[in-house]
Amino acid sequence: MTRVVTLAHYYTQPEIQQMADKVGDSLELSLYAREAKADIIVFAGVRFMAETAKILNPAARVILPDAQSTCSLVTQTDVAALRRWRESYPDHVHVSYINSSAEHKALSDWIVTSRNVDDIIAHLYEQGQKVIFSPDRNMGAYLNFQYGYDMPLWSAVCEVHDKFNEAALKEAFAAVAGDKYLIAHPESPLPVLTGADYVGSTSGMLNWIKAYQGAPSAVIFVATEDGILYNMRQARPDLDIRQAPIYAGCQCNSCPYMKMNTVEAVKRAQRGEGLEIDYLSAEQMDAARLPIERMLEFSQ
Ligand code: 13P
Ligand code: SF4
Repeated sequence: MTRVVTLAHYYTQPEIQQMADKVGDSLELSLYAREAKADIIVFAGVRFMAETAKILNPAARVILPDAQSTCSLVTQTDVAALRRWRESYPDHVHVSYINSSAEHKALSDWIVTSRNVDDIIAHLYEQGQKVIFSPDRNMGAYLNFQYGYDMPLWSAVCEVHDKFNEAALKEAFAAVAGDKYLIAHPESPLPVLTGADYVGSTSGMLNWIKAYQGAPSAVIFVATEDGILYNMRQARPDLDIRQAPIYAGCQCNSCPYMKMNTVEAVKRAQRGEGLEIDYLSAEQMDAARLPIERMLEFSQ
């Protein structure tokens, strides 16, 4: 019998998360994919995540439900230009966010996710290394600001998180009379992050919500993709959790690529139809695996 394992990122719709064997953030899903005893791994997420699963578990067939599920951090990065940029810093360590293509990963010394990026870069600085960071400009700018680093940054953004802005948040905060909080994903712009009570990965924000012990009437604004609000409200139905607005009155910021994972597309993928990640050569996968494994070893 064909063993099918379905993975779903927090940003997918509730009905997709309910079809999954494992729901999680990028790091959790990568670790789960690596250990999965499966003939087919269906990755209800975006393409770079499915590629990472294939790189970590090459024996499994990995299927992405919709071939168009990409990520703006990948499409805004021209790999030939990235190679030239990387070569212009020969004495630097190249740290890349996991939201990158397999080719991009192969040009990196370390891969990080939003969960372990602070610790890995701190570790490199403690060793006296010089670091360049790609592709997320917002995340890099936040790390430079927060820790006083001077990392040269590649310049791509998440088209979803980049829309959060200080002006809309100020307006939303002003409309709440009582306590209010902002928690934010580090792909958001710097002025949003510097005004946040907590900055962290999708799992980090979910844990913050679970552990919340402040006033029960407080409003908690969340600057990230709307899919995870389902998990947050399930965990704490007692709280007033709202997506941060991108303009007045709007709680409507979602990732078009994550939302391509429809019930029908996931069902088809579970039958082995969809975009199979079978186009990476063994050499490409080996080169991309090295910096990912370095991260997984560090994070375990
Ligand atoms: P996480 O690593 O927090 O799961 O985020 C992935 C992502 O694509 C955020 O936009
Ligand atoms: Fe990429 Fe942004 Fe979508 Fe995450 S939310 S997959 S970073 S486009």
